Amino acid sequence: MDYKKQVAESIVTALDGQLELQVAYDKIEIPKASNLGDFAFPTFVLAKTLHKAPQMIAQELVESIDQDVYEKVEAAGPYVNFFLDKSAFSQEVLQAVLNQADHYGDATVGQNGKVPIDMSSPNIAKPISMGHLRSTVIGNSLANLLAKTGYQPVKINHLGDWGTQFGKLIEAYKLWGSEEEVKADPINKLLEYYVRFHKEDKAHPELDDEARKWFKKLEDGDEEATKLWQWFRSVSLQSFKHIYDKLGITFDSYKGEAFYNDKMDEVVQILEDHNLLKESQGAEIVDLDKYNLNPALIKKTDGATLYITRDLAAAIYRKRTYDFVQSLYVVGAEQINHFKQLKAVLKEMGFDWSDDVHHIPFGLITLNGKKLSTRSGRVVLLDKVLDDAIDLAKQQIQSKNPDLKNADEVAHEVGVGAVIFHDLKNERMNSFDFDLSEVVRFEGETGPYVQYTRARAESILRKANKQVATDDVVLADPNAWETLKYLQAFPETILRAVNEYEPSVIAKYALHLAKSFNQYYANSKVLVEDDQLNARLALVQSVSSVLKNALALLGVKAPSEM
Ligand code: ARG
Repeated sequence: MDYKKQVAESIVTALDGQLELQVAYDKIEIPKASNLGDFAFPTFVLAKTLHKAPQMIAQELVESIDQDVYEKVEAAGPYVNFFLDKSAFSQEVLQAVLNQADHYGDATVGQNGKVPIDMSSPNIAKPISMGHLRSTVIGNSLANLLAKTGYQPVKINHLGDWGTQFGKLIEAYKLWGSEEEVKADPINKLLEYYVRFHKEDKAHPELDDEARKWFKKLEDGDEEATKLWQWFRSVSLQSFKHIYDKLGITFDSYKGEAFYNDKMDEVVQILEDHNLLKESQGAEIVDLDKYNLNPALIKKTDGATLYITRDLAAAIYRKRTYDFVQSLYVVGAEQINHFKQLKAVLKEMGFDWSDDVHHIPFGLITLNGKKLSTRSGRVVLLDKVLDDAIDLAKQQIQSKNPDLKNADEVAHEVGVGAVIFHDLKNERMNSFDFDLSEVVRFEGETGPYVQYTRARAESILRKANKQVATDDVVLADPNAWETLKYLQAFPETILRAVNEYEPSVIAKYALHLAKSFNQYYANSKVLVEDDQLNARLALVQSVSSVLKNALALLGVKAPSEM
């Protein structure tokens, strides 16, 4: 039930239609303090039409509003304050949550439309970075949110598995590499060769020529080059998958940049057909002056195609394959310009669906206030971060609940969940600092705090050891009011998160719900045998269910004991 709409309708009816429903609806506020009711209507809007002072209008409105459906309706200066009927409200919300269980909050707005999400997309032969972690967890949560609201998300890992750097890597490997070394520690060794190449090519520019030759060979399908490339790709992918497994995240497609190699000619052809290609110092570009953007470099002097050319092919391929309603790219804010160019070129190519292509940018993670980068050596190895988080979780679990049976599994869910939650509770464009000890705390605004609250709710239910009946759930306890209102707001919160592509909306919601429930629990006794026991247990079960599902939308597990 849309209570705000109910209030708007009460106002419009009392005014005999002198105000439009939508106007009334948009004006309604949510008072800051609970003693001012659940909704407030400011009467200033009516002063001109009614030629009366707002205070007076408020008084008169209170008299003409049908009060039956409310607990009370009061005038407070120029405002009309509405207090909802707690009995009816609690019954409706608790029944909805209990009956719909995991489907509470499901929506159909997506109408089964397909939404490819380009996410994670690390580069072969380099360690997966904190930026790629952000892309992975934000993309995964958006996929969950889209699925919940009736879309069909397609999670695509657009691996960085092509480009001139592979020429350098092959040359470096041929010079200094060893098969044994790579087998023992693939990513680190490959990175080491690559870094060494960049050091030595300063003094020996001929290395660059060799690298270019290797990349050319690779593009021409040379056997040795292709074999090495495939090997680098597969060992890298193995180490990425190890991290994805730990995070509990899967992909629907691993089509990386290389997949589009045989689709580039068509891109160039369409560009030519639209007369978009211009020569500039031997290279082929698309001028984007009218978009106030730098030209897009499509083909280099030596004919090699570029990152954006492969992205053009990928965008077209996705439209053809999925006939998407939206196509998302969860990629750091440093690539904002790239995606502006991509959209602009698609538009110039005559694809009106370019309007459905959205870059979902995000801010940087810093470590003690400093930017992380491969070159500066300030790399954080994600695998290690996750393992450390799991260890920290394990220590805390052991001190809180030494007898917990599946302690290792729970430690994994809590440690990994803490890292994911910490990332998602920040609005995605905000940069944030990463300090593991803050992330894995059981108090404060953390994932473990939400998980712990949910586990506590489960433990209350275990203690009660009763089947909760759904037909006796009127809970008029004012201590429960805030929690009931949060429960009721879950569906609209999900829609807001999807519309804004903002998982932090859900993370913040989960924190608020958990906090309000802990306050309720501190002030009201749940396990007392009286006629409200079932209603209180219904509240506890509803909180447990909604917290679990909110966490699931973020990609975080909810252990029932910890
Ligand atoms: N591999 C790129 C990087 O690490 C990200 C790719 C993003 N996706 C895309 N379709 N451009 O910077």
